[in-house]
Amino acid sequence: MIAGKSVLLIIGGGIAAYKAHELVRLLKTRGIRVLIIMTQAAEQFVTPLSLASLSGEKVHTALFNLTDEVEMGHIQLSRAADLVVVAPATADLMAKMANGLANDLATTALLATDKPVLIAPAMNVRMWRHPATVTNAQALKNRGIAFVGPDEGEMACGEFGPGRMSEPVEILNKIISMLQPQALPLSGKKVVVTAGPTREPIDPVRFISNYSSGKQGYAIARAAAKLGADTVLVSGPVALAPPAGIRVIGVESAREMLTACEAELPADIAIFTAAVADWRVAEQETDKIKKSNGSSLQLSLVENPDILATITSHQLRPEVVVGFAAETQNIHVHALEKLNKKRCDFIVANDVSRGTGVFGGDMNAVHFISRSGIESWPAMSKDEVGLMLMERLAGHLIPEGRPSS
Ligand code: C5P
Repeated sequence: MIAGKSVLLIIGGGIAAYKAHELVRLLKTRGIRVLIIMTQAAEQFVTPLSLASLSGEKVHTALFNLTDEVEMGHIQLSRAADLVVVAPATADLMAKMANGLANDLATTALLATDKPVLIAPAMNVRMWRHPATVTNAQALKNRGIAFVGPDEGEMACGEFGPGRMSEPVEILNKIISMLQPQALPLSGKKVVVTAGPTREPIDPVRFISNYSSGKQGYAIARAAAKLGADTVLVSGPVALAPPAGIRVIGVESAREMLTACEAELPADIAIFTAAVADWRVAEQETDKIKKSNGSSLQLSLVENPDILATITSHQLRPEVVVGFAAETQNIHVHALEKLNKKRCDFIVANDVSRGTGVFGGDMNAVHFISRSGIESWPAMSKDEVGLMLMERLAGHLIPEGRPSS
């Protein structure tokens, strides 16, 4: 049971402190008690009063406060909760933690606690990448401190890169997973995601492919794993690092991708993000095709199997199947057609026209389409799209599995 557990939330002084409100609210909705310590710098961004109203508890700010010490001493406070969470964890707080400084209530509690600690770093990208912070982060990890984020994206300072504090819902999920490892929305569920392009060989040195970077599919797989799913990523050739904790099956051609997907059934959710090449060369040459005096080359192409359509008509069809539709015009109409033709439950449609920056970019603006309607989601990072999508899909799973028909 998650309800009845308690968290000591230490709020550092960064612009991301405003997200602490939402985090406290989310924790409270799960029945988790939230004790709060704010650093002096945090009080520049959020007020103890607003946090006290949300948490329903006194917010602690000063180390030397006689009334507080009488009610609950700082050592007692550091041990009163099941988990200590630092969000946002600024570069300064991380440095103090790494070096064992204890010159205010937050750092004293962190040094005195005997409970697991989770930190959600938030800082400018250069500060995050500074060798001092890198060393401090490593020291904290070596000491068993858990991290959530930082995420990559646009930052309050206008720069782009890793350093954004994870979204409150992500921090909540991490907290839940630490308080009760079995309680995540996709615990015990298997999710298969396809990502990236496929390569269709012409001869031993040439192929047909497309511009898909795989970023959206990888983000979806990371989100699925974060929500507790046993996640398999069937990936075409991409320039992305394999995500931690996810089984990645590398494939090249559409036919290999199909075989790999079928081998992963049964699964609970399948998401087909891959930009599968529609055609392949009918006869792949075994030797390199030579050019000869300006003459043209005719390639005969045949259609590739439709992986998504094959899986939706498979006898082991996953409970929830999602297709992607990369369109350049009449997005809604084409996506709805695709939903019906391919018999999937949802289509995530996006506009990949020139200038949208979706292909290869870090942002995406998608339309979430089901038979009951179309939702246009605001532009957000591909990681955020992944998380929002996986949260939605988790809500569509029938708790006890598929009813027998
Ligand atoms: O290419 P198309 O627009 O038809 O792709 C729509 C969806 O179908 C995508 O989710 C894509 O991953 C999937 N697809 C597939 N196998 C194909 C073609 C598309 O799984 N051969």
